[in-house]
Amino acid sequence: IKKIALLTSGGDAPGMNAAIRAAVRGALYHKLEVMGIIRGYQGLIEDDIEPMDSKSVSNIIQRGGTILKSARSKEFLTPEGRVLAYQNLKKHGIDALVVIGGDGTFTGASIFSSEHNVPVIGIPGTIDNDLYGTDYTIGYDTALNTVIDAVDKIRDTASAHSRLFFIEVMGRDAGFLALRSAIASGAEAVLIPEVNTNYQKLSEFLSNSYKKQKSSSIVIVAEGDKVGGGALRTAEKVREDHPDYDVRVTILGHIQRGGSPTAYDRVTASRLGVAAITGLLENKRNVMVGLVNDEIVYVPFEDAIKNKKPIKQELFSLIDILSI
Ligand code: F6P
Repeated sequence: IKKIALLTSGGDAPGMNAAIRAAVRGALYHKLEVMGIIRGYQGLIEDDIEPMDSKSVSNIIQRGGTILKSARSKEFLTPEGRVLAYQNLKKHGIDALVVIGGDGTFTGASIFSSEHNVPVIGIPGTIDNDLYGTDYTIGYDTALNTVIDAVDKIRDTASAHSRLFFIEVMGRDAGFLALRSAIASGAEAVLIPEVNTNYQKLSEFLSNSYKKQKSSSIVIVAEGDKVGGGALRTAEKVREDHPDYDVRVTILGHIQRGGSPTAYDRVTASRLGVAAITGLLENKRNVMVGLVNDEIVYVPFEDAIKNKKPIKQELFSLIDILSI
């Protein structure tokens, strides 16, 4: 391998820039040439590709977003789109691809690699932390801290008005962000897609807290909570069943995807970025580089995509115990 290209794809995550920096500098350290692909797979199809050097990644470790920009390419989902992508790789003499993103990014990478025999290595970057085979994904820690900061502020006003708040956090199919932020912000309850919402249980809990005259209550709802249907619908039902409560809803939205990455995300991104290059040089192909028990691991894309990362029951139980 002499020349590699790098792209970010799917939802951006704080720390992606730190990962880009680490992969570029890791590659230059090993005397590889590096190209940056702008706007993910779509940029690859449209030949939006630029050379990168050490300077192109200076002063970005602290920045949110991604200097390579991101996209969710529909064209790359088609075999014709992937042929165009492959032709552009060949045109630039690129031997291998480093992709930073989540499961959608790795699914695309896996298909592309098997169709065109291109070595690809993946770096997990998503605030959802929902990739099997790695304890953490880049961006998760920063997003968690953003959520906690927001919930702390909402708690002030909730408490001043003795209100019940439903706060929706991101996670289309996963409740990792919701669960940990609920624990860290002292939320009274959490609703996540991995656990069937027991509305009856929530309802009983709310009746009890009313009797106990709790000054405020916060329920964290994962965007992907299927049974409740998100914070707005659950709040609507609670308003009907518990008219004594003064209910409000806050949907945190894309604020969770921005901001300067935490130290943890910067360090993780730096480690995974360099390990992606080392992996490629050690002939690792079509794998995601991850962290398990603080050690670098390489997980086949197939495993990372197919398996569902389990929620820790121990963490989930904490909510009930700590909200008595
Ligand atoms: O996968 C990251 C994520 O932020 C999810 O939590 C969320 O459901 C989705 O992306 C939102 O995507 P978009 O920014 O394309 O609306």
